[in-house]
Amino acid sequence: MPQLIVTTREGEERAIEGEAGLSVMEVIRDAGIDEILALCGGCCSCATCHVHVDPEFAAKLPKMSEDENDLLDSSLTRDDTSRLSCQLPFGPELDGLRVRIAEED
Ligand code: FES
Repeated sequence: MPQLIVTTREGEERAIEGEAGLSVMEVIRDAGIDEILALCGGCCSCATCHVHVDPEFAAKLPKMSEDENDLLDSSLTRDDTSRLSCQLPFGPELDGLRVRIAEED
């Protein structure tokens, strides 16, 4: 299974196996990392699944929707690497993807 490398808010790095077809948010949540609240369950309306993605993978990610962009604007810690992890489908093409969980707003 493809691997996702997650850095938690405490700076701990964890490599987790991700089932293809899940979103990055679901992979992180299913691994028991509870820093991702994902309050809306993945329907792009809460921004509590904010992560910073390694720029090396930027070209492999799906384009950001207007809704995702608007929601990220509500975050004080948004930067060029910000994405909502529920909007990123995980799969073999993203094997080795590195994400860092964003600070809580
Ligand atoms: S889980 Fe709510 S926007 Fe991603």
